[in-house]
Amino acid sequence: MNSTPTALDGPPIQRRRGVSRERPDSAARAERVLAGDRARQPRTPDRKVDIRRLGPGDMASLEAHLLRLEGHDRRMRFCGDLGDEAVRRHCALIDWPNTQVLGCEVDGVLRGAVELSIHPRPYSSEAELAMSLEREFQGQGLGALLMRKALVLARNRYVSSVFMTCMVGNRRMQKLAAKFGAILSIGEGEMEGRILAPWPTFLTIVEEAALESRAYLRAAFSHWPRPAARPASA
Ligand SMILES: CC(C)(COP(=O)(O)OP(=O)(O)OC[C@H]1O[C@@H](n2cnc3c(N)ncnc32)[C@H](O)[C@@H]1OP(=O)(O)O)[C@@H](O)C(=O)NCCC(=O)NCCS
Repeated sequence: MNSTPTALDGPPIQRRRGVSRERPDSAARAERVLAGDRARQPRTPDRKVDIRRLGPGDMASLEAHLLRLEGHDRRMRFCGDLGDEAVRRHCALIDWPNTQVLGCEVDGVLRGAVELSIHPRPYSSEAELAMSLEREFQGQGLGALLMRKALVLARNRYVSSVFMTCMVGNRRMQKLAAKFGAILSIGEGEMEGRILAPWPTFLTIVEEAALESRAYLRAAFSHWPRPAARPASA
Protein backbone atom coordinates (compact mmCIF):
# COMPACT_ATOMS: atom_id res chain seq x y z
CA MET A 1 0.00 0.00 0.00
CA ASN A 2 1.21 3.48 -0.84
CA SER A 3 2.16 5.29 2.38
CA THR A 4 3.21 8.58 0.83
CA PRO A 5 2.15 11.34 3.26
CA THR A 6 -0.44 13.84 2.02
CA ALA A 7 -1.80 17.08 3.38
CA LEU A 8 -4.62 15.02 4.89
CA ASP A 9 -2.12 13.22 7.13
CA GLY A 10 -1.52 16.33 9.21
CA PRO A 11 -1.81 16.17 12.99
CA PRO A 12 -5.18 16.92 14.59
CA ILE A 13 -5.67 20.62 15.05
CA GLN A 14 -5.26 22.00 18.55
CA ARG A 15 -7.23 25.10 17.96
CA ARG A 16 -7.47 26.94 21.21
CA ARG A 17 -4.37 25.65 22.92
CA GLY A 18 -1.93 27.77 21.01
CA VAL A 19 0.42 26.63 18.33
CA SER A 20 4.18 26.78 18.52
CA ARG A 21 6.12 28.94 16.11
CA GLU A 22 7.93 25.95 14.62
CA ARG A 23 8.26 26.03 10.84
CA PRO A 24 7.55 22.57 9.54
CA ASP A 25 7.34 21.68 5.91
CA SER A 26 3.91 23.21 5.35
CA ALA A 27 5.15 26.65 6.41
CA ALA A 28 8.02 26.37 3.99
CA ARG A 29 5.53 25.49 1.26
CA ALA A 30 3.37 28.45 2.23
CA GLU A 31 6.45 30.66 2.02
CA ARG A 32 7.11 29.45 -1.50
CA VAL A 33 3.53 30.10 -2.58
CA LEU A 34 3.50 33.51 -0.97
CA ALA A 35 6.73 34.30 -2.74
CA GLY A 36 4.72 33.85 -5.88
CA ASP A 37 6.42 30.91 -7.52
CA ARG A 38 3.28 28.81 -7.63
CA ALA A 39 0.57 31.44 -7.36
CA ARG A 40 -1.38 31.60 -10.59
CA GLN A 41 -2.65 34.78 -12.13
CA PRO A 42 -6.45 35.00 -12.18
CA ARG A 43 -8.00 33.85 -15.44
CA THR A 44 -10.21 36.86 -16.04
CA PRO A 45 -8.74 38.46 -19.16
CA ASP A 46 -11.61 40.82 -20.04
CA ARG A 47 -12.52 41.92 -16.55
CA LYS A 48 -11.18 44.60 -14.27
CA VAL A 49 -10.35 42.88 -10.99
CA ASP A 50 -9.52 44.85 -7.87
CA ILE A 51 -8.69 43.51 -4.43
CA ARG A 52 -9.15 46.04 -1.68
CA ARG A 53 -9.60 46.22 2.04
CA LEU A 54 -13.20 46.73 3.14
CA GLY A 55 -14.37 48.66 6.17
CA PRO A 56 -17.64 49.33 7.96
CA GLY A 57 -18.54 51.74 5.16
CA ASP A 58 -18.65 48.80 2.75
CA MET A 59 -21.19 46.90 4.80
CA ALA A 60 -23.98 47.31 2.24
CA SER A 61 -21.96 45.89 -0.64
CA LEU A 62 -20.57 43.07 1.51
CA GLU A 63 -24.08 42.18 2.60
CA ALA A 64 -25.33 42.33 -0.99
CA HIS A 65 -22.50 40.02 -2.10
CA LEU A 66 -23.21 37.44 0.61
CA LEU A 67 -26.94 37.59 -0.09
CA ARG A 68 -26.24 36.87 -3.77
CA LEU A 69 -24.59 33.57 -2.84
CA GLU A 70 -26.94 30.83 -3.97
CA GLY A 71 -28.09 27.99 -1.69
CA HIS A 72 -25.16 25.63 -2.21
CA ASP A 73 -22.48 28.31 -2.12
CA ARG A 74 -24.01 29.96 0.91
CA ARG A 75 -24.05 26.60 2.69
CA MET A 76 -20.40 26.08 1.79
CA ARG A 77 -19.46 29.57 2.94
CA PHE A 78 -21.16 29.36 6.33
CA CYS A 79 -20.98 25.58 6.79
CA GLY A 80 -24.74 25.47 7.17
CA ASP A 81 -27.99 26.84 5.82
CA LEU A 82 -28.34 30.51 6.60
CA GLY A 83 -31.37 32.59 5.71
CA ASP A 84 -31.11 36.18 4.52
CA GLU A 85 -31.74 37.53 8.00
CA ALA A 86 -28.90 35.47 9.46
CA VAL A 87 -26.57 36.70 6.71
CA ARG A 88 -27.48 40.30 7.56
CA ARG A 89 -26.86 39.57 11.23
CA HIS A 90 -23.49 38.05 10.36
CA CYS A 91 -22.50 41.30 8.63
CA ALA A 92 -23.82 43.46 11.44
CA LEU A 93 -21.79 41.49 13.98
CA ILE A 94 -18.43 41.73 12.22
CA ASP A 95 -15.85 42.79 14.79
CA TRP A 96 -14.11 45.29 12.51
CA PRO A 97 -11.20 46.20 14.81
CA ASN A 98 -10.14 42.54 14.92
CA THR A 99 -11.25 41.52 11.45
CA GLN A 100 -9.54 42.19 8.18
CA VAL A 101 -11.95 41.99 5.27
CA LEU A 102 -10.73 42.03 1.70
CA GLY A 103 -13.11 42.41 -1.16
CA CYS A 104 -12.75 41.29 -4.75
CA GLU A 105 -14.39 43.72 -7.10
CA VAL A 106 -14.97 42.70 -10.68
CA ASP A 107 -15.82 45.57 -12.98
CA GLY A 108 -16.62 47.68 -9.93
CA VAL A 109 -19.02 45.25 -8.21
CA LEU A 110 -18.09 43.28 -5.10
CA ARG A 111 -18.13 39.63 -6.18
CA GLY A 112 -15.97 38.02 -3.54
CA ALA A 113 -14.72 38.55 0.00
CA VAL A 114 -12.42 37.04 2.55
CA GLU A 115 -12.81 37.61 6.27
CA LEU A 116 -9.80 37.15 8.49
CA SER A 117 -10.79 37.26 12.15
CA ILE A 118 -7.75 37.67 14.34
CA HIS A 119 -7.49 36.46 17.93
CA PRO A 120 -4.58 38.53 19.14
CA ARG A 121 -1.81 37.39 21.44
CA PRO A 122 1.48 39.19 21.79
CA TYR A 123 3.67 38.41 18.76
CA SER A 124 1.79 35.26 17.89
CA SER A 125 -1.86 35.31 17.00
CA GLU A 126 -4.31 32.94 15.48
CA ALA A 127 -6.85 33.85 12.87
CA GLU A 128 -9.84 32.30 11.17
CA LEU A 129 -10.38 32.76 7.49
CA ALA A 130 -13.60 32.38 5.52
CA MET A 131 -14.16 33.36 1.94
CA SER A 132 -16.67 33.43 -0.84
CA LEU A 133 -17.00 34.13 -4.52
CA GLU A 134 -20.21 34.36 -6.45
CA ARG A 135 -20.81 31.38 -8.73
CA GLU A 136 -20.07 33.14 -12.00
CA PHE A 137 -16.65 34.17 -10.68
CA GLN A 138 -15.52 30.85 -9.20
CA GLY A 139 -12.86 28.65 -10.72
CA GLN A 140 -10.98 31.54 -12.31
CA GLY A 141 -8.20 31.89 -9.79
CA LEU A 142 -9.82 34.74 -7.86
CA GLY A 143 -10.08 32.60 -4.70
CA ALA A 144 -6.33 32.00 -4.84
CA LEU A 145 -5.71 35.72 -5.29
CA LEU A 146 -7.93 36.61 -2.31
CA MET A 147 -6.34 33.99 -0.10
CA ARG A 148 -2.86 35.10 -1.03
CA LYS A 149 -3.63 38.71 -0.07
CA ALA A 150 -5.36 37.63 3.15
CA LEU A 151 -2.27 35.66 4.13
CA VAL A 152 -0.12 38.71 3.49
CA LEU A 153 -2.31 40.67 5.91
CA ALA A 154 -2.12 37.82 8.41
CA ARG A 155 1.67 37.67 8.24
CA ASN A 156 2.01 41.41 8.70
CA ARG A 157 0.03 41.07 11.94
CA TYR A 158 2.26 38.28 13.26
CA VAL A 159 -0.48 35.72 12.86
CA SER A 160 1.18 32.35 13.22
CA SER A 161 -1.75 30.06 12.40
CA VAL A 162 -4.60 30.69 10.01
CA PHE A 163 -7.52 28.29 10.42
CA MET A 164 -10.32 27.66 8.01
CA THR A 165 -13.31 25.39 8.26
CA CYS A 166 -15.20 23.98 5.32
CA MET A 167 -17.61 21.17 4.67
CA VAL A 168 -16.10 17.79 3.93
CA GLY A 169 -17.47 17.87 0.38
CA ASN A 170 -15.96 21.25 -0.41
CA ARG A 171 -13.15 19.95 -2.60
CA ARG A 172 -12.51 23.31 -4.21
CA MET A 173 -11.80 25.04 -0.90
CA GLN A 174 -9.67 22.12 0.24
CA LYS A 175 -7.63 22.23 -2.94
CA LEU A 176 -7.18 25.94 -2.54
CA ALA A 177 -6.10 25.62 1.10
CA ALA A 178 -3.70 22.79 0.27
CA LYS A 179 -2.14 24.97 -2.40
CA PHE A 180 -1.11 27.37 0.36
CA GLY A 181 0.39 24.59 2.43
CA ALA A 182 -2.61 23.97 4.72
CA ILE A 183 -2.62 20.93 6.94
CA LEU A 184 -6.11 19.49 6.61
CA SER A 185 -7.87 17.36 9.18
CA ILE A 186 -11.37 15.94 9.25
CA GLY A 187 -13.77 16.75 12.06
CA GLU A 188 -17.47 15.99 12.40
CA GLY A 189 -18.87 16.70 8.95
CA GLU A 190 -16.36 19.48 8.55
CA MET A 191 -12.79 19.80 7.53
CA GLU A 192 -10.35 22.12 9.17
CA GLY A 193 -7.29 23.55 7.53
CA ARG A 194 -4.39 25.22 9.25
CA ILE A 195 -1.80 27.30 7.52
CA LEU A 196 1.32 28.06 9.50
CA ALA A 197 2.03 31.57 8.35
CA PRO A 198 5.65 32.62 7.98
CA TRP A 199 6.95 35.82 9.54
CA PRO A 200 6.38 39.08 7.68
CA THR A 201 9.08 40.28 5.35
CA PHE A 202 9.86 43.57 3.68
CA LEU A 203 8.00 42.28 0.63
CA THR A 204 4.79 41.47 2.55
CA ILE A 205 4.83 44.98 4.03
CA VAL A 206 5.29 46.49 0.58
CA GLU A 207 2.53 44.30 -0.84
CA GLU A 208 0.09 45.48 1.80
CA ALA A 209 1.14 49.10 1.30
CA ALA A 210 0.48 48.69 -2.43
CA LEU A 211 -2.97 47.31 -1.65
CA GLU A 212 -3.72 50.33 0.50
CA SER A 213 -2.34 52.90 -1.91
CA ARG A 214 -4.38 51.51 -4.80
CA ALA A 215 -7.51 51.85 -2.67
CA TYR A 216 -6.54 55.38 -1.70
CA LEU A 217 -5.86 56.44 -5.27
CA ARG A 218 -9.08 54.90 -6.48
CA ALA A 219 -11.07 56.73 -3.81
CA ALA A 220 -9.29 60.00 -4.58
CA PHE A 221 -9.86 59.84 -8.33
CA SER A 222 -13.14 57.98 -8.52
CA HIS A 223 -15.09 61.15 -9.29
CA TRP A 224 -12.84 62.27 -12.10
CA PRO A 225 -14.50 62.01 -15.46
CA ARG A 226 -13.17 59.18 -17.58
CA PRO A 227 -11.43 60.31 -20.75
CA ALA A 228 -13.59 59.94 -23.81
CA ALA A 229 -12.84 56.90 -25.92
CA ARG A 230 -10.56 57.65 -28.86
CA PRO A 231 -12.36 57.77 -32.16
CA ALA A 232 -11.55 54.82 -34.32
CA SER A 233 -8.98 55.76 -36.91
CA ALA A 234 -10.35 55.92 -40.43
C1 LIG B 1 -14.05 28.03 -2.35
C2 LIG B 1 -13.89 29.27 -3.23
C3 LIG B 1 -13.63 30.48 -2.35
C4 LIG B 1 -12.68 29.03 -4.14
O1 LIG B 1 -12.49 30.15 -4.98
P1 LIG B 1 -12.26 29.95 -6.54
O2 LIG B 1 -11.97 31.26 -7.16
O3 LIG B 1 -13.41 29.19 -7.07
O4 LIG B 1 -10.96 29.05 -6.51
P2 LIG B 1 -9.73 29.06 -7.52
O5 LIG B 1 -10.24 29.15 -8.92
O6 LIG B 1 -8.73 30.09 -7.11
O7 LIG B 1 -9.08 27.64 -7.21
C5 LIG B 1 -9.86 26.50 -7.03
C6 LIG B 1 -9.00 25.29 -7.29
O8 LIG B 1 -9.81 24.15 -7.02
C7 LIG B 1 -9.85 23.32 -8.17
N1 LIG B 1 -11.17 22.73 -8.21
C8 LIG B 1 -12.30 23.21 -8.73
N2 LIG B 1 -13.31 22.34 -8.55
C9 LIG B 1 -12.77 21.28 -7.91
C10 LIG B 1 -13.28 20.04 -7.45
N3 LIG B 1 -14.56 19.73 -7.60
N4 LIG B 1 -12.44 19.18 -6.81
C11 LIG B 1 -11.14 19.48 -6.64
N5 LIG B 1 -10.60 20.66 -7.05
C12 LIG B 1 -11.41 21.52 -7.68
C13 LIG B 1 -9.58 24.22 -9.33
O9 LIG B 1 -9.06 23.48 -10.42
C14 LIG B 1 -8.58 25.19 -8.76
O10 LIG B 1 -7.27 24.67 -8.77
P3 LIG B 1 -6.22 25.16 -9.93
O11 LIG B 1 -6.12 26.65 -9.85
O12 LIG B 1 -4.96 24.48 -9.53
O13 LIG B 1 -6.79 24.68 -11.21
C15 LIG B 1 -15.13 29.53 -4.12
O14 LIG B 1 -15.30 28.45 -5.01
C16 LIG B 1 -16.39 29.78 -3.30
O15 LIG B 1 -16.67 30.89 -2.93
N6 LIG B 1 -17.18 28.73 -3.01
C17 LIG B 1 -18.42 28.89 -2.23
C18 LIG B 1 -18.16 29.33 -0.79
C19 LIG B 1 -17.13 28.46 -0.11
O16 LIG B 1 -17.03 27.26 -0.34
N7 LIG B 1 -16.34 29.08 0.78
C20 LIG B 1 -15.33 28.40 1.52
C21 LIG B 1 -15.67 28.37 2.97
S1 LIG B 1 -14.32 28.95 3.93
